[in-house]
Amino acid sequence: MIDYKQVLEDIHTELLGIEDTGEVASYIPELASVSQDNFGIYLNRINEENYCAGNWKTRFSVQSISKVLSLAKALSLVGTSIWNRMDVEPSGDPFNHLSLLEMEEGIPRNPLINAGAIVVADILISELKNPKEDFLAYVRGLANDATINYNERVATSEKATGFKNYATAYLLKSFGNLNNPVDQVLDFYFHQCALEMNCEQLSNAFYLFANRGICMRNKAHLTLTQVKRINAIMLTCGFYDEAGEFAFEVGLPGKSGVGGGIVALLPNEYILATWAPGLNPKGNSYLGMQALERFTTKTGASIF
Ligand code: DON
Repeated sequence: MIDYKQVLEDIHTELLGIEDTGEVASYIPELASVSQDNFGIYLNRINEENYCAGNWKTRFSVQSISKVLSLAKALSLVGTSIWNRMDVEPSGDPFNHLSLLEMEEGIPRNPLINAGAIVVADILISELKNPKEDFLAYVRGLANDATINYNERVATSEKATGFKNYATAYLLKSFGNLNNPVDQVLDFYFHQCALEMNCEQLSNAFYLFANRGICMRNKAHLTLTQVKRINAIMLTCGFYDEAGEFAFEVGLPGKSGVGGGIVALLPNEYILATWAPGLNPKGNSYLGMQALERFTTKTGASIF
């Protein structure tokens, strides 16, 4: 029997002794004010007891982690036709690069880089009656938590400075891969990225990906095939140009965000969410990566 409480406490103690060489994201000004002196971890086990350590109750900006939730919603609405508008290959590039998008004529490499997530946002705007409200209701439903919300200050902050995302969206538009107006699509995209959750809420929102498409409220949202595909995309594309490293060190499907969150999961077993705002040069949480590596090494519980 693994003593999960001890494992999480050990990881927390070990990380306190490591110098955090990461840096808080500052290209979205509102994120720059978050204290780097934070570390939270929450282990959500399927039908078993949960465990936590550190600042797991503090809410943070989930940023790119939201791309998995928007993909899940879009896939459940439009099915496999989504793959006519984006690919499922790792990009090996940073999350906001433009060169591949131009070379590949407006077809994003995958739904987890910014270009792919912007096309997913376009699909949701076309499909949902009240996109921002309906998507928030979807996330709240998945996590069984009506207190989850967008942080308007973070959304406004990114709207004022997200020039690369505007460039991406206009490039997509020029290739005919965006049906709605750029401003409308990016307003939705900046809001989805500005969702705030703590480690527990994030693990709850991702419960369905470890539980065969069935969420915390016991409702089926995705087919088994759709869950298989989303988890495969998280494994191969969830960490951008560090996806290989994450699979190598941690061995789980997962997704990071520039708010410092990471969520990863072992199908049918658990979801593990971490938060530490200092980012490594690839834009992934420095201490979060370390925590996840230690967890799967100590417990032996990875997909490999
Ligand atoms: O679009 C952006 O740049 C941010 N809203 C999200 C980027 C992000 O979280 C990348 N993940 N590591």
